[in-house]
Amino acid sequence: MGKEIVLILGGSGGMGLATAKILIEKGYKVIISGRTKGKLASISNQLGKDCTYVVLDASNNEDLNKTLSSYSKLDHIVVTISARANASGINNTSEENAKQAFQRFWISYNVLHFATEFLKRNGSVTLISGSSAKTPLKGYGVWGTLHGSLNGLVKQASIDIAPIRVNAISPGGIGINADRQLTEHRGMVEDIGQMVYAVISNLAVTSTIIDVDGGERIGTWNG
Ligand SMILES: NC(=O)c1ccc[n+]([C@@H]2O[C@H](COP(=O)([O-])OP(=O)(O)OC[C@H]3O[C@@H](n4cnc5c(N)ncnc54)[C@H](OP(=O)(O)O)[C@@H]3O)[C@@H](O)[C@H]2O)c1
Repeated sequence: MGKEIVLILGGSGGMGLATAKILIEKGYKVIISGRTKGKLASISNQLGKDCTYVVLDASNNEDLNKTLSSYSKLDHIVVTISARANASGINNTSEENAKQAFQRFWISYNVLHFATEFLKRNGSVTLISGSSAKTPLKGYGVWGTLHGSLNGLVKQASIDIAPIRVNAISPGGIGINADRQLTEHRGMVEDIGQMVYAVISNLAVTSTIIDVDGGERIGTWNG
């Protein structure tokens, strides 16, 4: 049997890149995707024959569809994109900036919308949400709302597109705000990559939001 193929939208940075490295070690073929060709080409070269790349602005729905349709059925899609939006609380984030943050939601939505066409029946989609969905906090209103929406999307899509499996990893404090965590270990992008591997390789896991946040969501740092 050939190696399973995983498309990672956002595979040239942070969590996506760490995930790509781990999946290759575990015996997958990985296609990393992002908007910057030079970065993708150099990473793909470093990661070797099991890593190829595709240049794509995933917020362009037509290009996303075209890219997906250029592959014969994929096994898994992982969405680790960062929209790098200037967003904070609902009271002080403009609609325009909030919409920029929600780009991640719409890319995730469109991947799920197309999934039955481009993924194998026993394949999976893994999204990234975030611990702020579970811990409302002043100044994080847009992020909490976005992450809650992504968690809702997972629950609903896992029913709508079954038997394709749909899950999210909910990170918190990965590479930042280490003081918020209960664990001595400080969350790293590799912790996310390990969990993506666990989720895509376990055929019984669907409709699940998995917290990889060192306990940040409990909010003990906030009160
Ligand atoms: N750190 C945490 O604890 C935490 C908590 C909650 C949520 N998160 C979320 O986790 C996600 C991943 O974070 P990260 O630090 O790994 O991000 P990152 O290092 O900024 O990497 C983002 C990746 O997405 C790609 N990308 C961005 N926009 C794209 C687009 N429109 N189309 C295609 N590719 C695109 C980037 O490449 P190009 O720029 O070249 O396109 C890059 O490969 C983020 O959405 C972040 O908000 C993180």
